[in-house]
Amino acid sequence: MPEELFGPSRPLLPPIYNSAVYTFPDLDALEAVYRREVPGFIYARDGHPNAEWLAAELVRLENGRWAIVTASGMAAIALTCAATLQAGDLVVASRRLYGRTLQLLTEELPRWHIRTCLVDLDDESAVVQALAQRPKWFLVETLSNPTLRVANLFRLVRWCRQHDCRLIVDNTFATPALCRPLELGADLVVESLTKMIGGHSQVTLGAVIGMESDWHDRFRRTCSIWGWTGNAFDCWLAWQGLQTLTMRMQQASATAARLADWLAQLPGISRVIYPGRTDHPDHVLARELFREQYGNMLSVELSGGRQAINQFLRRQQVIVLAPSLGDVRTICTHPDSTSHRYAPAEEKQREGITPGLLRISVGLEPLEVLQQAFLRGLGLA
Ligand SMILES: Cc1ncc(COP(=O)(O)O)c(C=O)c1O
Repeated sequence: MPEELFGPSRPLLPPIYNSAVYTFPDLDALEAVYRREVPGFIYARDGHPNAEWLAAELVRLENGRWAIVTASGMAAIALTCAATLQAGDLVVASRRLYGRTLQLLTEELPRWHIRTCLVDLDDESAVVQALAQRPKWFLVETLSNPTLRVANLFRLVRWCRQHDCRLIVDNTFATPALCRPLELGADLVVESLTKMIGGHSQVTLGAVIGMESDWHDRFRRTCSIWGWTGNAFDCWLAWQGLQTLTMRMQQASATAARLADWLAQLPGISRVIYPGRTDHPDHVLARELFREQYGNMLSVELSGGRQAINQFLRRQQVIVLAPSLGDVRTICTHPDSTSHRYAPAEEKQREGITPGLLRISVGLEPLEVLQQAFLRGLGLA
């Protein structure tokens, strides 16, 4: 390391350690690192400083004991499956999950002879029945896409404990700024850092944050064997994104709340879905579960359906169509043609995913800018 270049100065930011491998003065030193008798790194796929720094921040924010950073949010979920399941196992999951997660559970896991039972979290008897079949774990999302239903983590923790089943929470939409599932008794949190945590749409990363130390060893080993570790540059960027997560979420939540109420009285909008509104089915639960804010995500239904959405987008200069969320810019997506593209018609009907539904990820623009964008998009200005 060219320490002599710096003199008494030191860089403000942590460096990016892109080295794929580490050197050792002799075999004894290598052995000591292998045995974890001293800190150190050997090979970047097994772990590297930028992933460790990011993991440490995630542990602090989620109030967990350990974290592993993965190459994407899906890699975090795949890692969870690979580290904990074997042929013959059963898992339970909410029906309202990210599309790729559902595909992983219902199309990939059966190839390994692992079954998934999907349940509607509103249907208490279905949940209890599923738990009675002794599943390995139960996977839910804190806030679901795109109807922003809130999982009752208080009740799920209790039920899972009664049935000796681990509770795994995908906290991507809520982030630790709104909710910390591990504090409520969940066993594991998975997160896509590609979204609000990275915050600037420039990284693809995920993480698993846990409590139990034997799961930590197992997850670390499985992550290395399957090759799912996140790369150093993305970890470095996401580490910086995390420094402003709380502030970004505060501001975006405040804007989203005011925007949702304003949109609800606008002509051309037939429905507004936001957990901070009293007309949301889970508003009371959200008030108990979240930290006095309701997040940056909202969904609106345009009464003119798909055609009105096309017009809205063609008139836009601010809110662009981009199938993701959590950026500093406000972006929108169309669940009917993206996340729920292949969902059966009856499921879309049950969940209220209509051709006119638009999901909005509110960014950091001033409220007035977004109001103008909606007025323009709806042909009202
Ligand atoms: C709730 C949720 N979980 C997991 C993922 C997967 O994350 P990634 O795209 O980083 O693989 C997504 C992606 O949109 C998501 O919305």
